[in-house]
Amino acid sequence: MFKIALFNQKGGVGKSAATVNLAGCLEREFKKRVLVMDCDAQQNSSLHLLNTRVDNTIRKILDGETTLEKSIYPVQLEVGNKLVNTKIDVLASGMDIDLLGPTDVKAYKKLTDQLEEKYDYCLIDCPPQKMATAITSLCACDYVLVPILTETDESIQGWDMVMDLVNELKTNRLNETISILGLLITRTNKTRKLDRQLTEYCRSTFGDYLFDTTIREAQDIRDSYMYRKPVVYYRKTCNVSKDYISAAKELIKRIDIRQRKVGV
Ligand SMILES: Nc1ncnc2c1ncn2[C@@H]1O[C@H](COP(=O)(O)OP(=O)(O)O)[C@@H](O)[C@H]1O
Ligand SMILES: [Mg+2]
Repeated sequence: MFKIALFNQKGGVGKSAATVNLAGCLEREFKKRVLVMDCDAQQNSSLHLLNTRVDNTIRKILDGETTLEKSIYPVQLEVGNKLVNTKIDVLASGMDIDLLGPTDVKAYKKLTDQLEEKYDYCLIDCPPQKMATAITSLCACDYVLVPILTETDESIQGWDMVMDLVNELKTNRLNETISILGLLITRTNKTRKLDRQLTEYCRSTFGDYLFDTTIREAQDIRDSYMYRKPVVYYRKTCNVSKDYISAAKELIKRIDIRQRKVGV
């Protein structure tokens, strides 16, 4: 199982949208088993996938109040008029995971290790800011995927901080193998001049770090949230579904290349 944290200190940059929609594509289009770890107290990804926020959380497991089995929520989605069992599961962190100390970080890692064989990918939806939950998730992940927007340069500026944080985790031996998988533009509108300019800026500044795929701004993303489905389950043939399928394909390829490099 590859653990990918979707992280950017900035809120509203599409972390949750990318988590849910990449999960949908990895599962539906590429037949992967996916665990969505919802580490944001707002539980937007849980709500999107399960149509409810959840009670049993990692925090409660660590406190001995529940078990891992009871905290894994399988995602069922309507296809046609039928409810189907997907290969996507949700595990939420619980809001007071913010109080985690180093012992809990170890316990958290151990917990995710137990799931190693059960899934192909684990997508971790991080909260904004350098909150303890985000740090804990970054300590336990293999890769970081950084969602950014091109409507203003705010989220792009956050990049330096992500790099600094990743380097800090490495030097302090909190996660020596962590690496940046790339930056993904999660909402862009090519009809706007500023979006085009910032996309160009990102291509020249970030080079190969930037995903070739960009996700266009689309009402279908907002609607799919309202219908509580990943967009690929909501309207498989719409343009933004195609964008997310292409981003998921790129994610698989990028990890594949990295794994071959380290000879695993
Ligand atoms: N490609 C897109 N097109 C249109 N709206 C989008 C797109 N991606 C995300 N959004 C919307 O932008 C808002 C912020 O996204 P969200 O995933 O909640 O950000 P974060 O998790 O980083 O706070 C949400 O209302 C979401 O529906
Ligand atoms: Mg979010």
